[in-house]
Amino acid sequence: MPSVSADDEWSPLRSVIVGRAAQSNFPSEPPVMIANTMPSQYLEEFRPNHPFPEYISETADAELNQLASILEREGIKVYRPKNVDWCKIGGYTGSMPRDGLLTVGNHIIESAYAWGCRRQEIALAFEDILRELAQDSSVRVIRAPTPPFPDTIYDGPAGGGVDGHPWVINNSRIAFDAADFMRFGKTLLGQFSHVTNSKGVEYLRSQIPQGYSIEMLDVTNPHAMHIDTVICPLRQDLLIYCPSRVSEEALRKHEFLRDWDLRPVPFTPKPRVEPPSLTCSDWLVMNVLVLDGKKVIVDGTDTEFAEWMRELGMEPVFCPLRHVNSIGGASHCATVDLVRLG
Ligand code: ARG
Repeated sequence: MPSVSADDEWSPLRSVIVGRAAQSNFPSEPPVMIANTMPSQYLEEFRPNHPFPEYISETADAELNQLASILEREGIKVYRPKNVDWCKIGGYTGSMPRDGLLTVGNHIIESAYAWGCRRQEIALAFEDILRELAQDSSVRVIRAPTPPFPDTIYDGPAGGGVDGHPWVINNSRIAFDAADFMRFGKTLLGQFSHVTNSKGVEYLRSQIPQGYSIEMLDVTNPHAMHIDTVICPLRQDLLIYCPSRVSEEALRKHEFLRDWDLRPVPFTPKPRVEPPSLTCSDWLVMNVLVLDGKKVIVDGTDTEFAEWMRELGMEPVFCPLRHVNSIGGASHCATVDLVRLG
């Protein structure tokens, strides 16, 4: 088995990275970024560059250990990052590796984070994993380009996106988060967002393996950050989407989705209140890791979603991730697919 090889989001998962949540720290980005990407009802509890409440980080860490065990029990090889004290270094978290690493075929590409506070995340916690993966000579590990100093990404005028949305970053340097992209065979589908600009997409186009291409999805989400609460392919020819963030029409514009079964999430997700959803919208309900086009990791408390998964022919595998949700994501965000048997 190669150590890195994935062309989609649903073929049988054989190898994966699962993040760690201990000592997570509220990200310290400018107020304009926080206000545009974090849920407004919790802005008062959002304390940039302060530790997340200990019960949240500690329980989230235990939840991720459990996720790792579940995946191992499914016969999947699991890599874990190093523990880092993100509070000490003014960073964010090791629990959201999906944001920082993008697997495309046999390449694994590090994000050029827009957020300055995340710049060291991969180097500090995931370096050993990347070194191990690179021992397989078929694999290409592509580290992030060095950002310019001083960083001008917030210096205005904004306009990094090309579709008229007022993103808070400009296009003065390369910026993208891996979680703004998903694999659909030789095509990646991405979105512009508050963390992904056109220079970032151009850069990514220059780094992906030959024969792969990137198409950009027209989203209608003024708070866009990460495509995995907008769409989620469950298996070949079946994709669910958030109807308030993207339209069926926008999806159908992509030739490869022409004949897919495209299903809007048919309910409004229940608010995540305990612990409070400090960093994400309730659309995290659809942020799921698919194991093999049938089994899918679902939080046990999302009963309505689990029921809907069954109706769609999927098999929910329950894993509580509420405290992980509070820090920044669910089972899709907290993992990086390394090998999927295509
Ligand atoms: N910004 C998204 C929302 O609030 C959450 C995205 C989480 N995804 C991730 N890869 N961290 O709905």
